[in-house]
Amino acid sequence: MPIISPSMLASDFANLQKDTEMINQSSADWFHIDVMDGVFVPNISFGLPTVKAVAKHANKPLDVHLMITDPDRYISHFKDAGAAYLTVHYEACNHLHRTIQAIKDAGMKAGVALNPHTPVSVLTEVISELDLVLIMSVNPGFGGQTFIKAAVEKVRNLKKLITDKGASTLIEVDGGVNTQTGADLLAAGADALVAGSFVFKSDNPTATIQDLKNL
Ligand code: DX5
Ligand code: ZN
Repeated sequence: MPIISPSMLASDFANLQKDTEMINQSSADWFHIDVMDGVFVPNISFGLPTVKAVAKHANKPLDVHLMITDPDRYISHFKDAGAAYLTVHYEACNHLHRTIQAIKDAGMKAGVALNPHTPVSVLTEVISELDLVLIMSVNPGFGGQTFIKAAVEKVRNLKKLITDKGASTLIEVDGGVNTQTGADLLAAGADALVAGSFVFKSDNPTATIQDLKNL
């Protein structure tokens, strides 16, 4: 069964506790938390106090996706805020190996996200160090965008890299995920699916999470 990580970016920010409790009671596995700085991506979402507020009520691991420049500055802060998985963008790190070590030294699982234009081959030398790779199937910054189909082939390539290296890295995919695109991604080797608008804009988010879980 896939790991399902609903994206809180699509939740009702004025009712965060209610949406957090909905996810607690659903068959979701993680909370996907999108932090944007308005520099790395052309949007600002929320920061540490909001992550802490969700963590206070969440009973499942926080899967934090940092879309920020120079993420090294904030690693210990996100640990303190309650992150279990901390994912940084390959495109935002000058010394990726060092950043990965710092996340693990801080006591979190380490993830790296790849923008749609970045090939999986850039991770060849660090894949064995990674707990998770996040394949972006939209350009990061906004929810509700159209799925980029080339992500399916990227998942296949990444799965091959992980298998060839004997690594146990999880493959997560983020952007435009629904039951159709989700099924294709899982068939290609994905382990975890992020879904924002497909879950929160549906009539019954709990049932929609279950539909993804059943894929
Ligand atoms: C986009 C974020 C996503 C976003 C996905 O930059 O990383 O997590 O919430 O939203 P949907 O599922 O609506 O494409
Ligand atoms: Zn995300």
